Amino acid sequence: MTTPLDAYWMPFTANRQFKSAPRLVSKAQGMHFTTPEGRQVLDGVAGLWCVNAGHARPRIVQAIQAQAAELDFAPPFQMAHPKVFELAERLVKLTPPGLDKVFFTNSGSESVETALKMALAYHRVRGEGQRTRLIGRERGYHGVNFGGISVGGMVANRKMFGPMLGGVDHLRHTHDPARNAFTRGQPEHGAELADDLERLVALHDASTIAAVIVEPLAGSTGVLVPPKGYLQRLRSICDRHGILLIFDEVITGFGRLGAPFAANHLGVTPDLMTVAKGLTNGCVPMGAVFAQRFIHDAFMNGPEHLIEFFHGYTYSGHPLACAAALATLDTYAEEGLLTRASDMAATFESAVHTLAGLPNVVDVRNMGLVGGIELAPIPGEPGKRAFQVFLDCWEHGVLVRNTGDTIALSPPLIIEQHHIEQIIGTLAQAITRAA
Ligand SMILES: Cc1ncc(COP(=O)(O)O)c(C=O)c1O
Repeated sequence: MTTPLDAYWMPFTANRQFKSAPRLVSKAQGMHFTTPEGRQVLDGVAGLWCVNAGHARPRIVQAIQAQAAELDFAPPFQMAHPKVFELAERLVKLTPPGLDKVFFTNSGSESVETALKMALAYHRVRGEGQRTRLIGRERGYHGVNFGGISVGGMVANRKMFGPMLGGVDHLRHTHDPARNAFTRGQPEHGAELADDLERLVALHDASTIAAVIVEPLAGSTGVLVPPKGYLQRLRSICDRHGILLIFDEVITGFGRLGAPFAANHLGVTPDLMTVAKGLTNGCVPMGAVFAQRFIHDAFMNGPEHLIEFFHGYTYSGHPLACAAALATLDTYAEEGLLTRASDMAATFESAVHTLAGLPNVVDVRNMGLVGGIELAPIPGEPGKRAFQVFLDCWEHGVLVRNTGDTIALSPPLIIEQHHIEQIIGTLAQAITRAA
């Protein structure tokens, strides 16, 4: 290893452990990464839940190259370039009816901040400015900015950073291993947990609550699949009380569950929907917030020369990101990738559940092309067993993800049966060795 490793402070990484035994990738193609030593590593997590069409797809590569030469940057405030409109029109054809306005950001975290601000400002422009309270959920992950960690519910992401946003409250999480362990697909039990929102309404009064934000399927906390009926129930409680419902679809967007979005798949339409990751196949940073037309239209009042929503980023709708996103949508369409997870789900489910009998496996969860294998923690050393499994898989040529003591799988949507067999076979051996 000749690359000096000292200066780079790595994100969400055990820096000292990494630098003592670095895990580098220097090339990627299709389902695989290649290490600088030339070792092939099968990608079991689509990079980081983002490379949904697989790596180095030619259309996307060419589109980015051509765009860099043609128009490298266009100012996004009071100005625009044609591709950003083209992309917006294409995207809103994929979303559930009603979600037909789109605001561009550069990441999932920025999409979350944008959606929370839209919700607050929406109530204010229509004369309900007292609706300032935001409701998240325990174990939720909504990125790392202050709004996102305030509504988020992963303790390690919150405890270091002070009091955060005021006036935030949380629903209980939906993880219920006593009733739902080893469920295939959506669990039977837990729809009633949505009634927690009624409890918070009774505590704070609906007139103070702006919005509720949840991940339809929670990924970062360790793959929590929504109980049957839960999201429908949350939707109807929000409707009853004039509370906006925000779906954070940063990982479920763009085909992960077998439809373009979890909202399509589950038949529940939120008022605002955040995305990122698969929007550009992970190639260029980009995020977006989809808004119901009524939310957008509420802002379109007042003198026409004035800005309606004081929010945006220098790189909102960046030309390279738009070119990458358009080529990504073409690739998804040509190969039917936005529904491919539904074709592969049964095979994937059977394979993931073969891990159920292995030592220390306390739960297996799955939906679409997402799998979660929860391991019993090593006493007194939470997270260590899953980290060992992650390292072992890496050494044996498969990239998985560990969060807490859960192993998460979210492979590229181009995955074939033999890749599934390799991922599960490698994982089975690693779990056995970590016993
Ligand atoms: C549900 C959800 N929201 C937000 C984010 C944050 O996205 P980013 O890392 O692009 O800021 C993530 C990242 O994994 C996520 O899973």
